[in-house]
Amino acid sequence: MAFTKLFVVFLSLVATVHLKTVKQSDAKAELEAYIEEKKSEINPRYRLHYHVAPPVGWMNDPNGFSYYKGEYHLFYQFYPYESKWGPMHWGHVVSPNLVDWRPLPTALLPEEEMCFSGSAVVKDDTLVLMYTAHEITDVEPFFNETQYLAFSDDGVVFEKYEGNPVLPSAPNGNPDFRDPKVWKHGDHWYVVLGSKTDDERGRVLLYRSLDLISWEFLSVIGESTGEMGYMWECPDFFKLKGKHILLMSPQGMTPQGDRYKNTHQTGYIIGSFNYETFEFVPEVSFQEIDFGHDFYATQTTEEDGNRYLIAWFGMWDVPYPEDVDGWAGAMTIFRELDLVGNRILMKPVEAMTSLREETVWDGKLAENDVIQLDKTGELLVTGDLSQNIELEIKGSNGGGQVSLRWDPQVRKVVVDREGDVRQVEWLPLGSEVWRIFLDASSLELFCGEGEVVFSSRVYPDGGWQVVNLSPQALDVVAYKLRRSVPEP
Ligand SMILES: *[C@@H]1O[C@H](CO)[C@@H](O)[C@H](O)[C@H]1NC(C)=O
Repeated sequence: MAFTKLFVVFLSLVATVHLKTVKQSDAKAELEAYIEEKKSEINPRYRLHYHVAPPVGWMNDPNGFSYYKGEYHLFYQFYPYESKWGPMHWGHVVSPNLVDWRPLPTALLPEEEMCFSGSAVVKDDTLVLMYTAHEITDVEPFFNETQYLAFSDDGVVFEKYEGNPVLPSAPNGNPDFRDPKVWKHGDHWYVVLGSKTDDERGRVLLYRSLDLISWEFLSVIGESTGEMGYMWECPDFFKLKGKHILLMSPQGMTPQGDRYKNTHQTGYIIGSFNYETFEFVPEVSFQEIDFGHDFYATQTTEEDGNRYLIAWFGMWDVPYPEDVDGWAGAMTIFRELDLVGNRILMKPVEAMTSLREETVWDGKLAENDVIQLDKTGELLVTGDLSQNIELEIKGSNGGGQVSLRWDPQVRKVVVDREGDVRQVEWLPLGSEVWRIFLDASSLELFCGEGEVVFSSRVYPDGGWQVVNLSPQALDVVAYKLRRSVPEP
């Protein structure tokens, strides 16, 4: 009798699980058909040629940046149904080299939970996603965040773990508890999570586990003393050149002079970490990692001894002129990190040179000379840093006006996007070259060895025009870059 009853319970459990799986795969197929159909309605004018962007709809944070079965995987916060934020899915793209990307089916669809940010690790032969399940509740503050797992054996189809959540709440019970970033050290898996204190100060929590399922809280590895914001999102924690880096996106820092001018910031603290005491000792205080207008929610991964970084090429609460075209948001180009002295250097990944298709300019660019580019370009610009430099970059049919300047008096690099200025001191370590990447609606400027980087969305009409307004001739090499992401 008892056995029969148990068996029936078991059967109905199997049936429920099966039904849920069928429902999810139906929903996934419907979504892919929707994306296929909607793609044809996209206006291509601002579509990026070599940056990852959503096929349709909205994109924000990068997620699950990892290397699995011979390819890089990148997931992203995705809302397919409108060009604005909505219940979060995980979009998915893969690449052999961090430059050429091809889309895969949407990896996670929301059910009772929205699928907020998280990371991916390879355990045995399985790609494991750990992400924040954001659920709407009917009591204050009307949401709850817990951590879920999902698994894939082929890197394409993901099944959510039946035993979710694996991390039901923060030690202080605060509902802001998100963005798990997992890594392995020795026998243990570790995860850092963004959260806050009861009196609204951002903090990062550290846990460990032997199986990714049962987790032990270890320590708070970083916490705002008040001036560093009310919430720390998207923490990442890794070793670089013998130091430990706590990289995160604090919300609620007040602007100070040239610093912290965006809605929210992304930056890092350099320090040392002890795996016995779980204590992180900061040695260099918080610095922004990119000084442009549109940069947030970084995530890194290590492969072949290199530390690679990707970020959302966007910002909260700013306009996205492409949203009327059927999409909004993108990723930056992929960067490689290095640490020299008190600063992280950020360079485009090596493989970016494989995009160079045609040399458009190679030689002196005299005062008032103009370089015409189509939708894409890479420029290597060298000037005499004892004099002013001024490059005007704008749409060939108007729009997209941005001025890049060097002022030798204050030794600052300036990115002036229609009067909205970002600027920072630059002390070249070696190279004095500016490396500028232009895509159909973006600009990225890497100074020298990557001491100073700016990432900003800019919207030209037509192609690009680069004018030398400096009181000196500049040495310039300019390339047209090929496409490395699918056409809309
Ligand atoms: C969130 O949900 C988890 C799992 O159901 C529960 O343990 C936790 O208490 C909830 N937290 C809040 C703040 O509602």
